[in-house]
Amino acid sequence: MQIETITTTAYNDQNPGTSGLRKKVKVFQQPGYLENFVQSIFDSLEDYTDKTLVLGGDGRYFNRVAIQIIIKIAAANGFGELIIGQGGLLSTPAASHIIRKYQAFGGLILSASHNPGGPDEDFGIKYNVSNGGPAPEKYTAAFYQRSLAIDTYEYAHIADVDLDSIGTQQIDNLKITIIDPVSDYAELMQSIFDFKLLKQSISSGYITLLFDAMSAITGPYAKRILVDMLGASPESLINAEPLEDFGGHHPDPNLAHAHELAERMFSPDAPTFGAASDGDGDRNMITGSQIFVTPSDSLAIMAANAHLIPAYAQGLSGVARSMPTSQAVDRVAASYNIPCYETPTGWKFFGNLLDAGKITLCGEESFGTGSNHVREKDGLWAVLFWLNLVAVKRQSVADIVHEHWQKFGRDIYCRHDYEAVETPIANAIVTHLRDLLPTLPCQVFGEYIVKYADEFSYEDSVDGSISSQQGIRIGFENGSRIVFRLSGTGTVGATLRIYIERFESDAARHQQDAQVALAELIDLAEQFCEVKKRTGRTEPDVMT
Ligand code: G1P
Ligand code: ZN
Repeated sequence: MQIETITTTAYNDQNPGTSGLRKKVKVFQQPGYLENFVQSIFDSLEDYTDKTLVLGGDGRYFNRVAIQIIIKIAAANGFGELIIGQGGLLSTPAASHIIRKYQAFGGLILSASHNPGGPDEDFGIKYNVSNGGPAPEKYTAAFYQRSLAIDTYEYAHIADVDLDSIGTQQIDNLKITIIDPVSDYAELMQSIFDFKLLKQSISSGYITLLFDAMSAITGPYAKRILVDMLGASPESLINAEPLEDFGGHHPDPNLAHAHELAERMFSPDAPTFGAASDGDGDRNMITGSQIFVTPSDSLAIMAANAHLIPAYAQGLSGVARSMPTSQAVDRVAASYNIPCYETPTGWKFFGNLLDAGKITLCGEESFGTGSNHVREKDGLWAVLFWLNLVAVKRQSVADIVHEHWQKFGRDIYCRHDYEAVETPIANAIVTHLRDLLPTLPCQVFGEYIVKYADEFSYEDSVDGSISSQQGIRIGFENGSRIVFRLSGTGTVGATLRIYIERFESDAARHQQDAQVALAELIDLAEQFCEVKKRTGRTEPDVMT
């Protein structure tokens, strides 16, 4: 193959965020932009000659174009094999599994997750290492450093690869294998859950199901697993055809964006179980007839009941949650006497704990849950986990949740997002909060007395690395918390996230609406950060 060294000009904005490099498609379409970043990744890695790279994405606009470019750069840089999902598709958890299963050197996942897609929307690229998980910070920092200095990239002049035909092609020293994106993942799910019981429960009509694939990657996965293997009716799936622009929607599984699902789950003839996943298939939203399960509660309930699932029958070695996730899972861990780790936001922080066997289950308040079966959060896995619980316990989703609250108490929780805030205003809010922190401890606000006010810093217990400035926390004597942080995945301005929680032990008060129950803390949060005052906005863009 003819390889050319092409001269390029460095960009100064290729710093990966919480989950890879995410920018507008138009940014990625600038000359050399994608090429520079991919070459910067390869330049920062060592000893991959003749090794295998996994490649796939969530199918959003620019996915196919990007894959053809990456194939040429990977070929020129000496990879021995590329394993690519048919059509250029792989859900993020499936990509993680395939890296692990085929012992690949690493993988490139093309996705901007739950962000909208299309020519004027978002694209993203993320490198995952050989354990199947997102590259840790020391890698992403190296990619960025390299991208600032890069002046050439390597490019192989080969024909575009047919991404649609499954099979193997050889181009000189490079083997290109196009695989079915679903089969390996479906097999993995079958090895974790009780598919026989699930099939019985679904085909007998005990469980009626509604799954919203949000016109994103999980459509084909849900068709194969829920319909073909478990016997759900095809009508149980909505928005199951992946579209390049997700039908113009945010493929983000929450009550605001999955509104058809939400409407049907709260209607009088709602199915027993409803769920949705996001653009790249790693997030999940769980609902039952007349109930929405917050992701923080979902994690806690999964941890409390994991022994009922075949793969976790021996119990959990430990659990972890991201810092802003509610403390509900901590209560389960304490009662089961297993460790509970608190990590910064972002899945990459769970990787070391999973690899070291310190945890089996982990999750985030942002609709992400996962286990040691892969090194990404996993949407359909969480859906199957819940279905398996409903089938074993023979209880409705609502009963499972209420029983859990009765036993452990309820951590009432909400998150308010202010999106696309002008960056200088957002930065000023953070500076203002930082200045406020030392003055807060022991101050009394109604029934709330500040116990601590700090900025979260994390020391990885496996490799000792330290990640500082991971969110501002204000904790109260009664266990309530307010957390502030700026999003690391947005592409326009800055997104301020405010996380609020309060513990309620009294079962008689468990049925309250979260926004009402947290009203006082919500007011306090505004008093501290002044986001409404400083932006002139009257309410958050998204409340979950
Ligand atoms: C968001 C979520 C975070 C999640 C990430 C990737 O990041 O808050 O929990 O890991 O997306 O899905 P953020 O935009 O808050 O940096
Ligand atoms: Zn995602």
